[in-house]
Amino acid sequence: MNIFDSLNSRKSIRKYTNERIDFNILNEIIDYANNLTGLFENIDVEFHIIENTNKFKSFGFFNIKAPYYLCISSVNSDDSNINAGYLMQQISLYLSTIGLGSCIISTPIPKHLEQPDFKYEYITALAFGYTNEDLFRDKIDSVRLSEDKVVYYKMDVSRDIKEIINAARLSPSYLNNQPWKFIVYQNRIHLFVKKSPVINMHHNKYRMLDIGTALANLLIAAEEYWINTSITKLEALKDKPFKQNDYVLTVLIDTNVHCI
Ligand SMILES: Cc1cc2nc3c(=O)[nH]c(=O)nc-3n(C[C@H](O)[C@H](O)[C@H](O)COP(=O)(O)O)c2cc1C
Repeated sequence: MNIFDSLNSRKSIRKYTNERIDFNILNEIIDYANNLTGLFENIDVEFHIIENTNKFKSFGFFNIKAPYYLCISSVNSDDSNINAGYLMQQISLYLSTIGLGSCIISTPIPKHLEQPDFKYEYITALAFGYTNEDLFRDKIDSVRLSEDKVVYYKMDVSRDIKEIINAARLSPSYLNNQPWKFIVYQNRIHLFVKKSPVINMHHNKYRMLDIGTALANLLIAAEEYWINTSITKLEALKDKPFKQNDYVLTVLIDTNVHCI
């Protein structure tokens, strides 16, 4: 299974065995993470794996118990959470292609686990390891908002563009909130995020991590369908007030290449 196939049927895994992962595989995971290109220039990140096979303790009181946690720390910037979500989702998909389950975790690293000496600010973690559960499910078993609730087609678009939007719609989100909205034209997709119901730093962080996971799915699918894309933030939308959503960015579609 490749990363694109996995995107359609992956699921969050919350039950793990305590089996050790081969040292070479752990190195490959770190190499994979380090070789990913971020969504934006100049947001340097750093990854650390916390091994938890000895104690096998959960990540916080109510959270997941996994043998390994991959943590990401990032340079502090307006886009560090989107970027972290974007990277963690790709790593999660990669793990599923090598037979490992995973789940993004939103809580801080609890005191009973090793505290890595981060270069930057800790953002989030990915629980991972072997599991006795199925790593995949039927696409239709993903509980997601229907397309008409989150996608607004402003004009007729190709089937491929609909597919990449659907890939984004399938991505994981904090509490399955799915805070994304897509405004779709033939040559651009404006991405919006639902406003936080309360002014809450944590909520804001999670919704931006969620946008990052959706962008990972969208851009992986675009590559699969040979759709050339680039990311921009449009001045005309950046400072415009919207009632229920905040503008995040625009995915530009190179329609010339897409005609192949
Ligand atoms: C930013 C983010 C934070 C998450 N935090 C947690 C968490 O702390 N604990 C947990 O069990 N699941 C967590 N999840 C997983 C979501 O609950 C899960 O993606 C969602 O319920 C949809 O289920 P699925 O991933 O199986 O499709 C998180 C997901 C994201 C994207």
